[in-house]
Amino acid sequence: MKRIKIAVLVSGGGTNLQALIKAEQKGIIKNGRIVLVVSNNPDAYALERAENANIPTAVVNRKDFADAKAFEAKLLETLEAAGVEMIVLAGFMCILSSEFVSHYKDRIINVHPSLIPSFCGEGFYGLKVHEAALKYGVKVTGATVHYVNEVPDGGRIIFQKAVVIRRNDTPETLQRRVMEQAEWKLLPKACEVVARELIRSRARAAAKKD
Ligand code: GAR
Repeated sequence: MKRIKIAVLVSGGGTNLQALIKAEQKGIIKNGRIVLVVSNNPDAYALERAENANIPTAVVNRKDFADAKAFEAKLLETLEAAGVEMIVLAGFMCILSSEFVSHYKDRIINVHPSLIPSFCGEGFYGLKVHEAALKYGVKVTGATVHYVNEVPDGGRIIFQKAVVIRRNDTPETLQRRVMEQAEWKLLPKACEVVARELIRSRARAAAKKD
């Protein structure tokens, strides 16, 4: 069986990428294989994590392009050149256009550090999400893994996990706990579920041809 070729898109620290790499090494992700890590940020530590795991990397920096269209064209070209079949957004801080998303319909997933539909959409990313949750005073937050469609954080939900907020939480302590208790567990699990589904639909399409 040929595993699904996965690209992980990152922008920063890459702890979710690390969880994916570990899950592949442990056989938790067995229907997919990470073939490429792409960062929009040349200084992302995630790139080093990929290199340490011998995974090819690429940098496609929005700042090097005149507009979002040219940036996305390069991104697409990079992914297609590596034969990528599925994309995982793991702390990728760029919003992708509906045009881009249509090239990978039902093949892009994202991890978001809240229980969607709370604290999500444009402007809610990284630490800002946890700041907003604490400011609002919610008692429970969490993480969501979802398909990516043309609405930011609006695609079909795959998995969610709740995390209890503590009285003395700061955005930083909350972020870390949401990662540990929810994101690093949900993202690899969802990645495997989606890769398995893509393998099945590939088999169905091949059977139809026979
Ligand atoms: C993670 O908490 C991820 O859920 C969040 O950024 C962090 C990246 O950390 N993503 C978003 O907010 C997307 N809207 P990482 O680079 O260590 O994986």
